[in-house]
Amino acid sequence: MAVRVFLAAENFFRHLRAGLWVVGLVLAGAEAQVVPAVMTPSSAREEIAALRTEIARHDALYHRQAAPEISDGDYDALKRKLREWEQTFPEVAREVPVVAEVGDDRSGLFKTYRHRERMMSLEKAYTEAELRAFAARVAKATGRREVAFVVEPKFDGLAVSVTFEQGRLVRAVTRGNGVEGDDVTGHVLAITGLLRTLRVPEPGAGADVMPGVIEVRGEVYVPFAEFQRVNAEREAAGEVRFANPRNLAAGTLRQLDPAEVTRRGLAVVFYGIGACEPITAVPTTQRGLHGKIRAWGLPGVGEVWPGVGADALWRAVQAVEQARAGFAFPTDGAVVKVDELKWQRELGVGESAPRWAVAYKFAPERAETRLRAITLQVGRTGVLTPVAELEPVALAGSKVARATLHNRDEIARRDLRVGDFVYVEKAGEIIPALVGVNRARRPVEAVAFVFPTACPACGTALVQRTGEVAVRCPGAACPAQLRRRIEHFASKAGVDIEGLGPVMVEALVERGVVKELADLYRLRREDVAALGKNVSKSAERVLAAIETSKRAELARVLYGLGIPQVGAVAAKELARECGSLAAVVALGDAAAPAGASSAVRAAAAYFAEPRNRAVVAELVAVGLRPTVVDVEVGGRALAGKTFVLTGTLPTLSRAQATAKIEAAGGKVTGSVSARTDYVVAGTEAGVKREQARTLKVAVIDEAELLRMIAGK
Ligand code: IVH
Repeated sequence: MAVRVFLAAENFFRHLRAGLWVVGLVLAGAEAQVVPAVMTPSSAREEIAALRTEIARHDALYHRQAAPEISDGDYDALKRKLREWEQTFPEVAREVPVVAEVGDDRSGLFKTYRHRERMMSLEKAYTEAELRAFAARVAKATGRREVAFVVEPKFDGLAVSVTFEQGRLVRAVTRGNGVEGDDVTGHVLAITGLLRTLRVPEPGAGADVMPGVIEVRGEVYVPFAEFQRVNAEREAAGEVRFANPRNLAAGTLRQLDPAEVTRRGLAVVFYGIGACEPITAVPTTQRGLHGKIRAWGLPGVGEVWPGVGADALWRAVQAVEQARAGFAFPTDGAVVKVDELKWQRELGVGESAPRWAVAYKFAPERAETRLRAITLQVGRTGVLTPVAELEPVALAGSKVARATLHNRDEIARRDLRVGDFVYVEKAGEIIPALVGVNRARRPVEAVAFVFPTACPACGTALVQRTGEVAVRCPGAACPAQLRRRIEHFASKAGVDIEGLGPVMVEALVERGVVKELADLYRLRREDVAALGKNVSKSAERVLAAIETSKRAELARVLYGLGIPQVGAVAAKELARECGSLAAVVALGDAAAPAGASSAVRAAAAYFAEPRNRAVVAELVAVGLRPTVVDVEVGGRALAGKTFVLTGTLPTLSRAQATAKIEAAGGKVTGSVSARTDYVVAGTEAGVKREQARTLKVAVIDEAELLRMIAGK
C-alpha cells in the first residue's frame, strides 16, 4: 500500500475526511479496497475516471438488468468517494468526460414515452451535518429561518409517473433517463387495487377542480409480506430467491407478462406530481397534496413527519428511522421536502435534482460478529447450502445466529475463514446476509474452510453440473434429501399432514422405518408409538392425518412432490389443465408442445424421468387418490381461453369473476395483448376497452361471461 501524501494545508481536513472514509470502507466493504496512491491531480484523473466507469456499470446492472452486484450501501460509498474527489479537484472533474448518463432504467424491452415534465432524482445526505447544511441552504434562499418541512419515508422500489387525463389513467412510465422512460401501463394497471379513474372529490373538500392532465409520481414496490411469500414459493419450487424487495419489483416490471405483477403482489404509492393543468387543481402544500392524492382514491403516503426549522427537521428524520422497523414496505431513507409548493417553485431545480428536497439515507442495519463455523445443509434436490454459524448478535430487533452463504464459490470469493469477524445485514430478508469480512480483525488462528468432496449425510461423492454454481449430492438414498422431501410433501402448502414435523421425520428416517415417500402410508401404529411421547404425542392423530392426506387436493399433491419450477401457483395451473394425477404423469410421455405453459413444460421434463414416475406409482399403490376440485363445476367451458377484466361488473367482484373463470378452465391476466381472447368490461372500463378495440379482441359484458361459463 502506498503512502498518502497530502497536498496543501487548506485541503488537509477534507483529505483527512476522505482518508478516514476510505479506511472505513476497507473495514466495512465486502472486498478489499485499494487505497489510492498519492492524491495528486493526475491520480485524481485516474480515480475520477475509474469511479465514473464503475458507477456507470453498477447503474446499468441496477436499472437496466435489475440485477445489482453490490449493496446499496457500497454503491452509495462509491458515489460519495467520487464526490470527494470531484470536490477536491473540481477542474480535473470537469476535464474527465462523463462516462454515461447516470441512472437510466430504460430496458429496450418496451416502447418509450416522453414525460411532460422531467423526472428528477434527489440529492443525498448521509449525516446530520449534511442535513443541516440542506436546511441552511433552504433558509438562505428563502430568507426565512423557520421553514416548514415534511419528512416522508423513502420507499425502496422503482419510480413511475402515471398520467391521468380527465381523471382517467392513460399511461404509466418508468423514470428512464428522466426525460423518457419505459411505457409500463399494462404492468401498472395489473397492480391490485389501483383505480383507473380518479374519484371526484366531495364538494367543499378544498380545491375541487379535476385536473385536465396530471402526472402523478410515485414508487412501485413490493411489501415485505409479499416479498417473503414470493421467495418462499420460489424456494419451494427450487428457484433462486430474490435478494431484496426492490429487485423483485424491478425484475417483475421487466417481465413481459403483466399478470406477474398481480401474482407477485406489487404495490404503488404516490408522493408527488409532475405536470398538472390547471395547477389550481392541487393544494398549495406538500401535506395538502398527500391528502388530495388519497382523496382521489389513489394509494398515498400514509404518515408524514412535519417539522419547522433545522432542529425539528433532524428530530423528524430520526423519528422516521425509529418508526421504520414497523413499516410493511421497504424503505432506505427519509425524504425531506419543503412543505410550501410556492417555496418549492422559488427554490427551483439544480442539474439533476430539485433544491427543495433531499434524501437522507439510513445506514444499513448491520452488525459485526464472529463466524464460529460453517455447516452444510442438504436440500431436497440434493443441493448443498453452506450456512454461517455465528456468535449470536442483535440486529434490527432480533438475535441473529445464522446467515446463508449461498454456495461454495461465495465462500472462496469472500475468502472467508472460520474464526473471522464478519458483517451481517438485514435487507428485508428474514434470513440475514453475510456482507463482508473485517480483514483487519482476522485472528491468526482463523482457518480456511475446506468444502467436503463427499455428502456429509450419506457419503456420496459430490458433483457440480457444468454451468451451475450449486454443488449437489447425487445420492439416491441420501437420508438428508429424503427428510427434506418428506417435510415438503407433508407441509401446509403440500398435503398438509398435521403433527408430522421435522423431529418426527428425522426419527422415522433415522430408524429406517421410512425409506421412501410411500412408506409414510405403510406406517403402523406400533412404528409411531415406538418413537416415544417426546417425538409424537398421539400416534392415532398422526396416523389419521396421514390417512386423510391420501385424498388431498391434486394441486397440493403436485406441489408436495417438489417438481422443480412448480410452486403453489404453478401446481394449481397444472391441476386445472390436466385434471388428474395420471394425466400430469403422462405429460412425461412426450416433449411438451410449443406454446405449453411453463408449468406443463416443467412437469413434462420431470415425469420424463422413470424414477420420478416410480415415486408417484408407489404412492398410488399405497392408496394416494388426490381429490380433483372445481373442474366439473360448469364443465371446462372456458378451457384455454384468456380473459382480462376491466371496470366494475354489475354483480361480480373482480375476485369472484376470476374464480368463476378459473373454475371453468379459463385464465385471467392483467393486461390486454394479442393473446387475450376476451375483455370483460363493466362500467368505467377505460384503457383496456380501447386496447381491446385496437387489438381486435372481443369485448363482452358480465351476462355474456356467465352464459359462456354455463356453456350456453
Ligand atoms: S420525491 C423531484 N418522495 O427516491 C424528486 N421520492 O433517490 C421526486 N423515492 O427518484 C422524488 N420515496 O424514486 C420522493 N417519498 C418520496 C420517495 C421518493 C422514494 C424515490 C424516487 C426518486 C428517488 C430519488
